[in-house]
Amino acid sequence: MRKALITGCTGQDGSYLTEFLLDRGYEVHGLKRRSSSLNTDRLDHIYQDIHESGARFFLHYADLTDGSSLATLLYDLRPDEIYNLGAQSHVKVSFEIPEFTADVVAIGTLRLLEATRRTGVKCRFYQASSSEMFGSAPPPQSETTPFHPRSPYACAKVFGHNITVNYRESYGLHASSGILFNHESPRRGETFVTRKITRAVAHIKHGLQQKLYLGNLDARRDWGYAPDYVRAMWLMLQQDTPDDFAIGTGEAHTVREFVELAFTHADLDWRDYVEVDARYFRPAEVDYLCADASKARRVLGWEPTVTFQELVRIMVGEDMKNVEARLKGGTEALQLAVTAEGRHS
Ligand code: NAP
Ligand code: GDD
Repeated sequence: MRKALITGCTGQDGSYLTEFLLDRGYEVHGLKRRSSSLNTDRLDHIYQDIHESGARFFLHYADLTDGSSLATLLYDLRPDEIYNLGAQSHVKVSFEIPEFTADVVAIGTLRLLEATRRTGVKCRFYQASSSEMFGSAPPPQSETTPFHPRSPYACAKVFGHNITVNYRESYGLHASSGILFNHESPRRGETFVTRKITRAVAHIKHGLQQKLYLGNLDARRDWGYAPDYVRAMWLMLQQDTPDDFAIGTGEAHTVREFVELAFTHADLDWRDYVEVDARYFRPAEVDYLCADASKARRVLGWEPTVTFQELVRIMVGEDMKNVEARLKGGTEALQLAVTAEGRHS
């Protein structure tokens, strides 16, 4: 049985990757960091009681800011594949906590690579690189496009990417970087723009929210469906030769187009509800990301399966269902939750 270790297991991609690998017969070990309340919502449906025989999914406390916890985990588990997905992944937040972001995203990657090397574990390594690294480089962007990062997060990801390449070249580690363009799902964090929009649509439709405040509506992103992208991560580690791959749909849309479509799904006119609030602008913006994923198509045989229109429909549909289910628990509790979340969007 192959064994995988996933950092960022509790996040959007980590949860889909865990399901994907369990379906393929892997034993999956996820890294979770200590928090004062439970943060495993995305994994609860696949939780396995470790006391039951046949359990193949385990969570361990560790942190990308704590090198010794990483080395101990690697030494004890000796995984065949490592997926480094852990990150402070919010671009806007990275301007507010740049030092922490760099520590987790850049140095955290180095800590994990170094722990892999020092423990001598024979494994394959996946690095979650990002299209955000391209920054202001014009589209379409591919593996050969020069990086021009525009945020502390993107600068840290460039370091993570380069140090992964360096460990491959210096120590012969089977390390691959996936340069993934934006990918979304009903499990997307609530403060990324797509999920912020689809949740607001559901709340507005049910009379629980009056307005949606957004930042730059003109930014263009290449938005795909997260489960398609975790398949690409796995495919990269199944290749004989490690390499870097850009992964995206090749189609870009503005934030405004996403908004319009999401509100249309709920028979609402977005212009009645959306207002621009400068607090959501970034000190430096990434205007236009659109993938040239031809190498991934050619070498990995990877193709996206969900279109932009389907993605928006799936996300609005799930948020509608969530609100309806929570409404059954009482409008008052739901209203309180909406208010508290609004402060952090
Ligand atoms: P996400 O939902 O924000 O998940 C991030 C994960 O990292 C969470 O499990 C989080 O734990 C964990 N984490 C944060 N700080 C950590 C630390 N100090 N030590 C260990 N783990 C830590 O992100 P995602 O959308 O799934 O993205 C997965 C990875 O791909 C990230 O590296 C992201 O930067 C990168 N990426 C994402 C996209 C995208 O469009 N989604 C595109 C390109 C690259 P908690 O649950 O405890 O917060
Ligand atoms: N979050 C957010 N909130 N973004 C907004 C808002 C808002 O209210 N209004 C407009 N936007 C714009 C942002 O300025 C950005 O141009 C775009 O919507 C997308 O923002 P996010 O959804 O926060 O994603 P991102 O593109 O900055 O970063 C995501 O994709 C990267 C890959 O390109 C994250 O998942 C990163 O971790 C990932 O690396």
